[in-house]
Amino acid sequence: MLWVKAFHVISVITWFAALFYLPRLFVYHALSKDKISIERFKIMQRKLYFGIMMPSFVIASILGLWMLQDYAWQAFSGQYWLLIKLVLVVVLIIYHFYCGYLVGVFRADKNTHSHLFYRWFNEFPVLILVAVVILAVVKPF
Ligand code: HEM
Repeated sequence: MLWVKAFHVISVITWFAALFYLPRLFVYHALSKDKISIERFKIMQRKLYFGIMMPSFVIASILGLWMLQDYAWQAFSGQYWLLIKLVLVVVLIIYHFYCGYLVGVFRADKNTHSHLFYRWFNEFPVLILVAVVILAVVKPF
């Protein structure tokens, strides 16, 4: 199971690399005026979302669920850190799919949010990352 845990952490890292970079691309895309930049951001966003963010999310989830059913659900049953972690992960998954929706909005040239909106939007996964890693490693309660 340590191999599963190692690859769980690796896929979580690549998932977050994309979760941090994609909204950054939204910031620059929202600021762009010329066609060449706009079309380039569309390609970068599509490749990042479907090529890295989605596979990383799927692998992290499969490996996490694997550990849950193998030992973790029983070993940590009734411990709040695990329940809170899973709730925060669900919130992160909603954020993930909202990013996918925004990729489609930008592709259709229908974005209405400012670059400032995306700058704040970009900060959200940081909060989840800090909370979930502390919960999973420290297991405070
Ligand atoms: C996608 C759904 C997820 C599930 C079902 C899941 C489930 C699990 C399980 C069962 C463990 C083993 C716990 C242990 O043995 O101590 C684990 C470990 C871990 N998870 Fe997740 N996880 C998920 C997502 C995440 C996310 C999004 C993060 C980071 C933000 C994360 C960070 C970690 C870390 C750092 C460990 C290693 C903890 C340690 O052994 O010290 N996981 N996860």
